[in-house]
Amino acid sequence: MILRTVAVIALKGGSGKTTLATHLALAAHLRGLDTLLVDIDPQHSARDVLGARDEPGPACVTSSGSTLLAAQFAAVGVRKDLLIIDTPAGAVENVSEAIVLADLAVMVVRPTLLDIAGLARTFSIVRRLGKPSTVVVNQAPVARESVEAPLVKRALRALDYMQAPVAPVILRSRSVYQTALERGRSAEEMSDRAAAREMAALWDFIETRIAARRTDAEPA
Ligand SMILES: Nc1ncnc2c1ncn2[C@@H]1O[C@H](COP(=O)(O)OP(=O)(O)OP(=O)(O)O)[C@@H](O)[C@H]1O
Ligand SMILES: [Mg+2]
Repeated sequence: MILRTVAVIALKGGSGKTTLATHLALAAHLRGLDTLLVDIDPQHSARDVLGARDEPGPACVTSSGSTLLAAQFAAVGVRKDLLIIDTPAGAVENVSEAIVLADLAVMVVRPTLLDIAGLARTFSIVRRLGKPSTVVVNQAPVARESVEAPLVKRALRALDYMQAPVAPVILRSRSVYQTALERGRSAEEMSDRAAAREMAALWDFIETRIAARRTDAEPA
């Protein structure tokens, strides 16, 4: 299996990059993929999160934008299946480095005007670098009887106007995403079934996106 690399990005702070990056790494690990999370945020939140885990989990190393390529080479050398990069807010150069090395750029955005404005900048970098990408809407209020809150509807309209490739799964604002990570666990390992279902559905989507890329790259 060829190493696949996913960069989790958003120039705007606090949108949920670390929450999503650690959850994707845990999702892959729980499904048997040999997974490495590379944390290039100087705050090292992802490393702290995964370091709090008692049971076996994805490996995690810290790095910087400039040494990311070396970390990726090392991951290829030890035959890792998946590399997830957690990136810092605001650091255009480091984020660009992560996008360049990724098979898929996963942008995270909250459904607020300020976040969407921030996403426009992030998305323009992704577009310039010509990378396959997807936008995950995070911390959205739970839909009532399948009807999205006006805030979410407006956000989706704005993203549609930007022609941003929005993922078919929206992550809701749920306290389990916070409590699970306190012990380095995924919401999939907790008792909140709604959170577990949405994270599993998002993983399935991301996996399909990177698997499609693998088929493109490999001769039959
Ligand atoms: N879906 C969610 N539901 C509830 N809380 C969430 C969710 N996603 C993220 N959070 C919370 O929002 C805060 C910011 O999330 P996180 O640290 O993942 O963002 P970030 O983009 O990595 O931030 P930074 O830019 O500082 O690296 C954290 O307190 C986190 O627990
Ligand atoms: Mg973070």
